[in-house]
Amino acid sequence: KMSPADLRLLVSRVKKELGSRLFIPGHHYQKDEVIQFADARGDSLKLAQLSASQQDAESIVFCGVHFMAETADILTQADQHVYLPDMRAGCSMADMANIQQTEKAWQYLMDMFEDTILPLTYVNSTAAIKAFVGKNGGATVTSSNAADMLNWAFTQKERILFLPDQHLGRNTAYDLGIPLDQMAVWDPIMEELLYKGPLHNIKVILWKGHCSVHENFRVTNVEQVRRDYPEMKVIVHPECSREVVELSDISGSTNSIINAIKQAPPGSQWAIGTEMNLVKRIIQENPDKHIISLNPRMCPCLTMNRIDLPHLAWSLESLAEGQPQNLIQVDRSVATDAKKALDRMLVRT
Ligand code: 13P
Ligand code: SF4
Repeated sequence: KMSPADLRLLVSRVKKELGSRLFIPGHHYQKDEVIQFADARGDSLKLAQLSASQQDAESIVFCGVHFMAETADILTQADQHVYLPDMRAGCSMADMANIQQTEKAWQYLMDMFEDTILPLTYVNSTAAIKAFVGKNGGATVTSSNAADMLNWAFTQKERILFLPDQHLGRNTAYDLGIPLDQMAVWDPIMEELLYKGPLHNIKVILWKGHCSVHENFRVTNVEQVRRDYPEMKVIVHPECSREVVELSDISGSTNSIINAIKQAPPGSQWAIGTEMNLVKRIIQENPDKHIISLNPRMCPCLTMNRIDLPHLAWSLESLAEGQPQNLIQVDRSVATDAKKALDRMLVRT
């Protein structure tokens, strides 16, 4: 077993050896021990765009979760290879929509609404779901462009099926002025549409999925902050529930949270509702402000955290030895359709 110091030396040595032939993107939710070695850090949108622009890189070691590595593979050239330091770094939200469930839901909805629906999927989804969406004229979205993409989608069709995060879908549609009573929920387990009013009123069909990290920020947490710190502003990610977003002062993507706090006046007070590693980093980087996690028990993304220094070092060592492990390779036919969905987003961003 190597010491952390030896692991850091190993990572630095391989990075130096491979130079621009190696690119390491790191999501903001990654641990400090990993993100310190990232060539670029970003939210899911920025990392997707950056991966597409790294023409020199033969190898991309993705410090993030599986769907992000798949996206990088889809957007890069055939001779560029993407690796994930730990194959167990998945996303519980992406796992909430599989392709069989999606095809069943689509059949049901097409029978009900005929050709009036366009599918949109959060990038937090499998390549197969992105391919399904691409094939059916739809696009991907991220938390930073969801509103623009939803607006675009309504220029195409009357109704939207939004996968797999009901909260991002609901919060974004609500901000665009669509009332909650025009949103239905599709339950993929029960295979039923949850909706009370007349069907023709439905504008948005939300897939019943959620992020297990952001769901941990609750109404009671906001109420507690309001009691304990009357001056404090509450800022949350739109993967939080509608009720929590409603009670907060601001909601926004990972990048907009980072920027809002960076630009806030010294002495200002913030409770942040997003992933623990990012909240800790924002606290360190803004010593002139009083910042806490909206949920005092913090909220780590356990799968993001599976990428740790030992896994990164192991991944780089295997690469340097010419026996790379954990290749992420999306099937060609899936990748072609998934790319259509991603490209429809990237040209509008
Ligand atoms: P963004 O990076 O788009 O803000 O998404 C947050 C997230 O949950 C990533 O898994
Ligand atoms: Fe998935 Fe949520 Fe973790 Fe992001 S934070 S990877 S959406 S489980």
